[in-house]
Order: sequence, then C-alpha cells, then structure tokens
Amino acid sequence: MMDSKRAVEGGETAVVFSLKNEVGCLVRALSLFQEKGVNLRHIESRTSKRFVNEVEIFADCSCSRKEFNDLLEHLKDHVNIVTFNSPAHVRSAEAGGEHIPWFPKKISELDMCSQRVMMFGSEPDEDHPCFKDEVYCKRRKYFAEIAMNYKFGQPIPRIEYTAEEIKTWGVVFRELTKLYPTHACKEYLKNLPLLRKHCGYREDNVPQLEDVSLFLRERSGFTVRPVAGYLSPRDFLSGLAFRVFFSTQYVRHSIDPLYTPEPDTCHELLGHVPLLADPKFAQFSQEIGLASLGATDEDVQKLANCYVFTVEFGLCRQDGQLRAYGAGLLSSVVELKHALSDQACVKQFDPKTTCALEFQITNFQEAYFISESFEEATEKMREFAKTIKRPFSVYYNPYTQSIDLLKDNHSIENVVHDLRSDLTIVCDALGKMNTYI
Ligand SMILES: [Fe+2]
Repeated sequence: MMDSKRAVEGGETAVVFSLKNEVGCLVRALSLFQEKGVNLRHIESRTSKRFVNEVEIFADCSCSRKEFNDLLEHLKDHVNIVTFNSPAHVRSAEAGGEHIPWFPKKISELDMCSQRVMMFGSEPDEDHPCFKDEVYCKRRKYFAEIAMNYKFGQPIPRIEYTAEEIKTWGVVFRELTKLYPTHACKEYLKNLPLLRKHCGYREDNVPQLEDVSLFLRERSGFTVRPVAGYLSPRDFLSGLAFRVFFSTQYVRHSIDPLYTPEPDTCHELLGHVPLLADPKFAQFSQEIGLASLGATDEDVQKLANCYVFTVEFGLCRQDGQLRAYGAGLLSSVVELKHALSDQACVKQFDPKTTCALEFQITNFQEAYFISESFEEATEKMREFAKTIKRPFSVYYNPYTQSIDLLKDNHSIENVVHDLRSDLTIVCDALGKMNTYI
C-alpha cells in the first residue's frame, strides 16, 4: 500500500479507532485506507478499555489532508474513531500554503471531536473522589459508552436515573434555586420557569438532555449532545461554532452533592442551559467558537480563557446590582455566594488581559469579570477575534449547518448574496411600517 511519491508529497498522521473484535472487521476497515489512497506506515492493536468486546487500532499513515479527511469521513460510518492527528505538516491550499489545524466544517464532523475525551472519561482518575466506588465507576462507564456511541442526528438516549442520582440532583437544585432570585441575571430568571414547564426541571426529576436540546433549538438554535468528560479547548469550542453544546449526562458522586471537580449534568442543566436559551448569549457563545476554528494552539488557549471567565464565571451589572451569568457560578452554591460578596475581586471584562489568566478548578477564581451586557461582551470579543492569526475568515451557513471559508471573491460573493437578500426583507419591512403605521 506504500506509494513513495505520495509519501513525499503528503503528511504523516495517525488515527486510533475501535471496532468489534470479530473476524473480518479489521480487514473491512483497512480496505477503506486503500480505497481512499491512504498509505499505512505502521499499525498496532490493543484491547479497548472504552468499549466491551472491542479492539483499538492505532494506524500511522501518510497522505494528503484531503485524503485523510475523506478517510475519516468514511471511517466514522464503520468504526468508533477514538482520536486522530491532522496531517500536521501538510501545507493547505485553502490557507494559501500555511498550516492550519484540522477543524470540523460540517456539524456531523463534531462526532469526531466528541470522541477525544481528555479527563474523567470512562475511567475516573485516581484523584477523583469516587475512584474507589466500583458501583459509581460502572455507572460512569455506562454514561461514557452512551456518549462515545452517540452520532449527530440521533435522539439523545433517555436515562433512567437512580434514586441516589435523583436525590443528589435534588439537593443541588433545592439549594441553588434558593439563591437564584438574588444572584442570577435576569436572562437566567426568565428562562428557568420555561425549563420547569417544558423540560421537567424539578427537585425530584433530572431533566433529559433530549428534551433540553429540543427546547434550546426552538429558543436560540442551540442543541446539546452527550459527551463523556472534558474535551480539549479546541474540540469543545468548535462545537459552539455550530451552536452545539457538549454536555455531560452523568450525575456527580453523592458523597458531596454541593461539590464536583468536573462538569456533571447538574452543572450543565442548571449552569449552562438557561443561558443558552437566550439568543444574545447564544450569539456570544457561537462567536467564540467561530473564532477558534483553525486558530493556533496559543490563540485557542486565549479564547478558552475568555470563555471560562465569561461563560463559566462571568458577572454582569443589572439595575445597579451585580448578578451572575457564568455557569460555574450558577451551579455552585459556595462560589456563587463568594463571587457576589465583597470578598471577591471583580474587574471589567477585557479579552486582551482576561485571555492571559488561568482559571482555578478547585479554588475560587482570583478575579471575576463584569460585562454590562452580552452585546458589549460580544463586541469586545469581536475586536479581540480580529487579532487572531488566521489566513481566512469563517462564515456559519445555517441552512447547511456548515462552515464556509471566506478566502476568495467567489466565497465572499456568496455571503454578500445572502446578506443582500436579508437586507431586502428589512428594507421592505421598514417601507411597510412607514406606509401603514
Ligand atoms: Fe461548564
């Protein structure tokens, strides 16, 4: 399968995928490499720790960026892609010869991002509070398998939460809802009653992600999809570019309902979801995601830091009072009280300085950042996004749920065509208002 000419022109890359441990499965998967013109340089196999009765295959290959993307596109229909590297040194014609990291261009390609879980996936780490609880570890594996097997377009599996999980959720729900009237921003307070009405937000019921996703789609165009644990900043932010939020579905360990060192469904449902239902917040979130596509690792980290100090720990001033809109605050009784107390250091949100700060997982944040409104935060992020080194602009096409690269006259003309159509509608509406009012 080695083609020396292609090896010289192409780049070296690797993909790890898992497949059923059955006769013929590997041959069928490897035939796709041949079909797509991808040279295999080295191959290894091992028993999968993520999926029962599956083996993981590490395939080191050599090919062009296009060949590799074609391969991944076909491979994902047949196997579970665990992780992959983009062909790092393949020069991209799209970027005028400059290297750009791989990023999803279609919403379905988020299937590949969701596989690359970094921490606390199916196997909690040794410093995790539940490390020695076998029952909890088994339950987490169940949630990890659901997330790993989930593909774009499928309904999100409904979970029958255990009595213990419902009790844990209930404690978090009860304690936090006492604080919201005096601590949460008005957008949050507007959407929480709607979630009670439409998605079963109650002390004795853990809402289902599928119901939440359908609700969000109607309110702001956002959807959620299950994920097994932390993703890299690049993978997580790329979901936001498509108005997709990667959400965990498991409940934290019951040992301490008011503390978790990692996101869980209480954090997602109570912290993130009410804000994602707000169209202006949705726009703000999506623009951070769009800015991250194809950006350098350094710039992605800066954007991730801005994301953390706004979407996770952001504050705003409403009617003269400090209120929280960050999900990390709105899902933590202790930190929510702290951030709005006179003990907390509060500064004005400025992406240029905020982007350099690191956030704390187990301690309170050194500082919390205020934005006057989501529009103001969006404007600041837009200015900041202009400083990101990227040889093209991106445009989200909502009709095809895909990313258009704006890199030449033709691609820009297409966007102008869409904008012209929208402006015609606005002008027509203005004309009618002047005539009939
Ligand atoms: Fe979060």
